[in-house]
Amino acid sequence: MDNEIRQQRWLVHLWLIISFLLSLITFPLHLSILAHIFFGLLFAGLVVAHLRQRRRTVRILWRDIKRVVAWIKPRGRMAWADVVLVVVTLNVVVSGFADYFNHNQPVMIPLGFISPIRWHAVSSIVLLALLVVHTLRRAKRLRTSQVR
Ligand code: HEM
Ligand code: HEM
Repeated sequence: MDNEIRQQRWLVHLWLIISFLLSLITFPLHLSILAHIFFGLLFAGLVVAHLRQRRRTVRILWRDIKRVVAWIKPRGRMAWADVVLVVVTLNVVVSGFADYFNHNQPVMIPLGFISPIRWHAVSSIVLLALLVVHTLRRAKRLRTSQVR
């Protein structure tokens, strides 16, 4: 049973990495935008599976978010880092749909003091950076996680 759980967690981690990278390389490989959207949505679906596999952890982290005194503890900081990750992930999916419905043209965000930025492209780069940190810090548990 433990082996089965470990295997399932590892498969989701592996496909999270693969689907994210596939979504990114659809551009240098000049593949269709539909392939890009397919891998992007696969990644988003796997994130839901990833969170569902650790419902208990997510519940504990959520409790820490609601208790201000817990914020200074390492677990509280981890909880906030995870909130940022969730928000940026949602931002990538929402901005992706915004570009799609804008006839595959990037939606720009005016910042006033510098030139406008591409909402989806910038969100994706921020997500990439956060995922590198998230994954490297948990690298030892990629294959062995049994956390629920
Ligand atoms: C490349 C994609 C990702 C990989 C490879 C990955 C991998 C991992 C690993 C190995 C763990 C540790 C499991 C353990 O403690 O045993 C973990 C935990 C977790 N991940 Fe991810 N993850 C990815 C993306 C995400 C995303 C996008 C989110 C949120 C939207 C997320 C939210 C969490 C949460 C809430 C936890 C539990 C608490 C924590 O350790 O921070 N992950 N992830
Ligand atoms: C893993 C998640 C995703 C990543 C890392 C990602 C990344 C990117 C990047 C880097 C570009 C090129 C941006 C540019 O040239 O300005 C792009 C374009 C695009 N993406 Fe995504 N994307 C993801 C998910 C999605 C999803 C879920 C959709 C849903 C419809 C989507 C729709 C689009 C569209 C329509 C474009 C072309 C318009 C544009 O250039 O912004 N993407 N994406």
